[in-house]
Amino acid sequence: MLSSLFREKIENITHLGARVGGLFASLMASGRLGIYLGTDDRRVLETIIFPYFIESSEFSHILFVGCRWYTMRYRKAFEGKDYWTLDIDPRQRRYGARKHIIDSMENLARHFKDNALDLVVCNGVFGWGLNNKADAENALQGCHQCLREGGVLLLGWNDVPQRRPFHPRECRTLALFDPWVFPPLSASEYLTDTRNRHTYDFYVKPGSADRRSA
Ligand SMILES: C[S@@+](CC[C@H](N)C(=O)[O-])C[C@H]1O[C@@H](n2cnc3c(N)ncnc32)[C@H](O)[C@@H]1O
Repeated sequence: MLSSLFREKIENITHLGARVGGLFASLMASGRLGIYLGTDDRRVLETIIFPYFIESSEFSHILFVGCRWYTMRYRKAFEGKDYWTLDIDPRQRRYGARKHIIDSMENLARHFKDNALDLVVCNGVFGWGLNNKADAENALQGCHQCLREGGVLLLGWNDVPQRRPFHPRECRTLALFDPWVFPPLSASEYLTDTRNRHTYDFYVKPGSADRRSA
């Protein structure tokens, strides 16, 4: 009798805990708690890099690769732009844009016409799934094909051995791009103040509409 009462209490507590945990997770996912990652790479991305592209009318057609709960707010930030997201993992769809693609980045060119994009943001994907050199080459080839001349590729990656299957510059396809000096940071490569040495590399697809500031 006593043990069944005890078991019932435990079950009630467990049930309540699961409900509170579920509520917290869904509030977090919906961004309603306003929780975000307070790391320096996120600060640079959200308060320096994004505002530049949001304010510039030359960047309308935007693809953001890789979605997580903390990137869900970006769909609001890019409201008014033609904002797309892409992730290989179907479960990440809920964190993506209204225009979301479930596929690997290496198949990017299947989803966009040539020269259709102004900006591709590939942040935290290299070394976080896009680890194989052939896949990375295909992904970069897709970026080159789908970006317009003067379009920008932002590659955010961790410059630490455990997240760097190889140096991104070893990808031959990157030679199709030029390094682009991002005006607000006055650099084409920017190392953030993070333990995982998160680094932003800016590239431009060269051509007549080139916006190189170097
Ligand atoms: C660490 S999260 C990065 C999320 C986000 N881009 C950011 O700014 O932090 C890595 C995401 O990339 C996705 N991903 C990994 N490999 C991919 C690939 N080949 N193509 C598309 N998405 C991929 C994973 O499913 C995961 O959601």
